[in-house]
Amino acid sequence: MSASPTTVASLAAMKARGERIAVLTCYDATFARLLDEAGVEVMLVGDSLGMVLQGHPTTVPVTLDQMVYHTACVTRGSSRALVVADLPFMSYATPERALESASRLMQEGGAQMVKLEGGEPYLDTVRQLVAQGAPVCAHLGLQPQSVNQLGGYRFQGRDHASAERIRHDALAMQDAGASLLVLECVPQALAGEIARTLTIPVIGIGAGAECDGQVLVLQDMLGLNPGRAPRFSRDFTVAGGSVRGAVDAYVVAVREGSFPSAPEIAY
Ligand code: KIV
Repeated sequence: MSASPTTVASLAAMKARGERIAVLTCYDATFARLLDEAGVEVMLVGDSLGMVLQGHPTTVPVTLDQMVYHTACVTRGSSRALVVADLPFMSYATPERALESASRLMQEGGAQMVKLEGGEPYLDTVRQLVAQGAPVCAHLGLQPQSVNQLGGYRFQGRDHASAERIRHDALAMQDAGASLLVLECVPQALAGEIARTLTIPVIGIGAGAECDGQVLVLQDMLGLNPGRAPRFSRDFTVAGGSVRGAVDAYVVAVREGSFPSAPEIAY
């Protein structure tokens, strides 16, 4: 674990060295300080805050103003981790809107990277963001902002056509200039194959143990949502004993590859 700030280049170097990357969601300055001290490499200001903080059933109601506000809270508390902010629903419906939204998240919020959900239809958007100096994290597999279209939070990539589309989109996103890829709720074998094929780091959530890193929703891994956390998550307070202990235990488990383990993969 290094004390120097995480950058796009240092994440790529970790992948090249075979070192796993620990990522957690974060929505405020207090947790940002704690996660920073624990050595988490990337803090994701996820639009999951719509569900976790605001109590909505989906991430769809989250606004750009809210994302800017929480991103600024997180960046005020962090000094080492790379801060990635989600572009919320519809805020990147056109490349022009994406540029405006990303500029607010980065200039007002202080984010160092923006994340968007989707593949092929967003390649030009990614190219334009990258051309303007905005690093991009792509998000494939289960895309929670599309829950109304999907009809629920469904595992992706199980059939041949869906796996093929995810494979294709992952490579296309890398070619368009994305620096990071989140794969959510896809089979371990598919996620592992994509992680080995791409040169950019692939961060998994519900995607098995073969990715270059893992991300969880902070409140889920702190056991604050009993009975509501997804099956692929783990309550790290059991091993850690305290909030800081839980985050420390998560970082160690991701680094040594003991998270996720069989029960969290086989679902
Ligand atoms: O919004 C979020 O927190 C996310 C992670 C679950 C990957 O996108």
